[in-house]
Amino acid sequence: MKSLYYESAAQLVKGKAYFTDDIPPFHNELKAYIVLSPVSHGILKSYDLSEALTVPGVVRILTHEDIPGIKKFGVTTHDQPILVIDEINFYGEPMFLIVAENYEAAYEAEKLIKYDIEELEPVVTIEQAMEKGWQLAPSREFLRGDLEKGFSQADHIIEGKFRIGGQEHWYLETHASIAVPGEEREMKIYASTQNPTENQHLIAEVLGVPYNEIEVETRRLGGAFGGKEAQASHFAILAALAAYHTKRPVRLRLQRFQDELITGKRHAYLCSYKVGFDNDGRLIAADLEFDGNAGAYADLSMPILERTMFHAENAYYIPNIRIRGTMWRTNLPPNTAFRGFGGPQGIANIENIIHEIAYRVGKDPALIRKINFYNQDRNETPYGQVVLYNRLHVLYDQLVEKTDYFGRRRQIDEFNKAHKYVKRGLAMIPIKFGISFTNSILNQAGALVNVYTDGTVQVNLAGIEMGQGLYTKIKGITAREFGISPDRVKITPTTTSKVPNTVPTAASTGSDLNGMAVLDAIEKIKLRMSISLCRHFNDQDKSYRTYPADLVFENDFIYDRSHPERRISFEEATNLMFVKRVSLSATGYYRTPGVYMDWSTGKGHPFYYYSYGMGAVEVELDLLTGKVKLLRADLMHDVGQSLNPEIDRGQIEGAFVQGMGWTLLEDLRYTEDGRLLNRTPDTYKIPAITDIPAEINVYLLEGYPNEIPTIHRSKAIGEPPFMYGIAPWLAVKDIIASLAAYKDLPPVELPATNDRIVMWVEQVMGK
Ligand code: MTE
Ligand code: HPA
Ligand code: MOS
Repeated sequence: MKSLYYESAAQLVKGKAYFTDDIPPFHNELKAYIVLSPVSHGILKSYDLSEALTVPGVVRILTHEDIPGIKKFGVTTHDQPILVIDEINFYGEPMFLIVAENYEAAYEAEKLIKYDIEELEPVVTIEQAMEKGWQLAPSREFLRGDLEKGFSQADHIIEGKFRIGGQEHWYLETHASIAVPGEEREMKIYASTQNPTENQHLIAEVLGVPYNEIEVETRRLGGAFGGKEAQASHFAILAALAAYHTKRPVRLRLQRFQDELITGKRHAYLCSYKVGFDNDGRLIAADLEFDGNAGAYADLSMPILERTMFHAENAYYIPNIRIRGTMWRTNLPPNTAFRGFGGPQGIANIENIIHEIAYRVGKDPALIRKINFYNQDRNETPYGQVVLYNRLHVLYDQLVEKTDYFGRRRQIDEFNKAHKYVKRGLAMIPIKFGISFTNSILNQAGALVNVYTDGTVQVNLAGIEMGQGLYTKIKGITAREFGISPDRVKITPTTTSKVPNTVPTAASTGSDLNGMAVLDAIEKIKLRMSISLCRHFNDQDKSYRTYPADLVFENDFIYDRSHPERRISFEEATNLMFVKRVSLSATGYYRTPGVYMDWSTGKGHPFYYYSYGMGAVEVELDLLTGKVKLLRADLMHDVGQSLNPEIDRGQIEGAFVQGMGWTLLEDLRYTEDGRLLNRTPDTYKIPAITDIPAEINVYLLEGYPNEIPTIHRSKAIGEPPFMYGIAPWLAVKDIIASLAAYKDLPPVELPATNDRIVMWVEQVMGK
């Protein structure tokens, strides 16, 4: 299939594409600047803004007292103050909002704000929160089978703890929004958000106006990765609040350090496990427990924990299994959605366990994987969903063959015997990722399609373009369904005024949900056009009859399948529809069928289908410096019938690299009292071009369209390939394990950064 090129590629390359802060200044526009809290935990006793207000150019300084409506926001519960009310709960929490003619005046004013804070002891780590009993919400649990019986049947039992670090999103475009007041209570907000509807709702509730007065528009994001699903609304609210008080347009965009301090990250976890298995390495029982660091407010922590638990067994059938999870409140920014939404942590934990099992029974980890994969008979997940159309086995067989996995493992052993200080490793990672919002209600989308009388089409979406290619995929779907050239299709900026009551673009469901909603709208328009065109054709020439089902939309024409001479160009047809008084505009709607989850029993069918993958990554490790070099990655992914192979390839490569950043490079460092130290790119290291393997082979699994009805039988792609980034970490772990002769390993944690690797190597090899 030919891939349509990225929809706004030309504008982006020329630097002419508008991100929120590229929108030219509005007449009379003000800037808003956030004053951050200097402590992680404390009480704001008093403040004095009088001197700061004398700075020329400062128009207002807003506090929580200036909020007319609700003073707290949040997705699951409204527990996060928009501006500090009394208690400060994390370092960098927004306290005041300076509204000024320019940023310089705001910087000046910031220095003159006086406040008195009573400092309290901060809680930073999961262990500290456990000690204090700062549990965020009731724990969650899945249970299947009989753990005790399972463990009693096992030949081996291993127990351990596994620590997983967080990750900063590092979208290139920091949070930004512009609020433009209109007549009376109207306001239009341009926001860099994955969730315009939530912004609209919260702004309305904060300002105390009805939803229909507020419009939120989003053209594109310079990356989001989940970081703008729940947290962008904070900044849109602040801009709107400033515009409300000043009656002037207000622009708010964060500097990098502010963005890193205010916003939450991927959740760090402490995982505890006990697993029982037989001499072949077949899992019999597993008791898995996850304790996550939620940060100061609820945000999306509970649904994220749930997704961790939904992916705690990854690709493996474990007959007796208990999965428990708890989120702990701490004095860190509220942690939030990040590509994979908790799934990567669950998967990293079980894959770490698979390697521990392999070391114990003395087998290649790939073989342990293979015998534990879900199959025809062993196919029910701990939460009761049956794994259908399982691609794990075909992917495994094809990947093993394509990469000569076992041959290369032997070569690597030879290499390692011959080299004392440089070692190589090769590890595999299977992916089974559930597609749907686990909160089943969210699996819906609307769309509005307008056809114009020059034969062009405008598509208005519920979904957001954040670089993942949603707009391009929808453009392709629209062109194909109308049988017209893609040049005739325009995807408009997403706004709450065109498609209302939308869900965030997240959970990798963007093209699944929006694609189907657009298809629904297009089918309505095509049916109206077809009925009218048949009448038109049949009136002109009565010798035979054309029925709507006979009409084909193809190559910018509409014609009768059996009488191709009976044809009209798409453009002429649209013009004719105006003459015939036929509406060329329709809304579409889609809801994912059959998904539900019952948390009272821990059973359900939360996912419409699963997306699968299999990767193998080879690394080279310098034992003296701890430097990891990625040599080669082979990633074989199941996207069903791809909507756009080039975009899917880009998503796979990008997600893999982002994943390896999490497992090998990125290391959030906090002081003991909870202040983030590495808040700028000189100290927080995301993968650079030199970190990427020289050889990345991406294979899209051929010949396996989605059996479940999805848009053009495709599968979601956005998040699942992030898991490939776990493979190089496993390869590093293998190397360290081999140095320790596969016994009494030091606790190899995630991330495995240079410095940590050196420490582990020293621990096993002596100094
Ligand atoms: N790709 C790019 N370039 N930028 C992004 O911000 N976000 C990821 C993924 N791919 C992201 C991305 C995340 S977290 C999700 S959930 C999906 O895209 C969302 O888009 P989709 O549902 O349309 O795939
Ligand atoms: N994935 C991503 N985002 C979400 C989800 C989910 O399952 N649920 C709510 N927001
Ligand atoms: Mo993606 S973490 O679901 O925005």
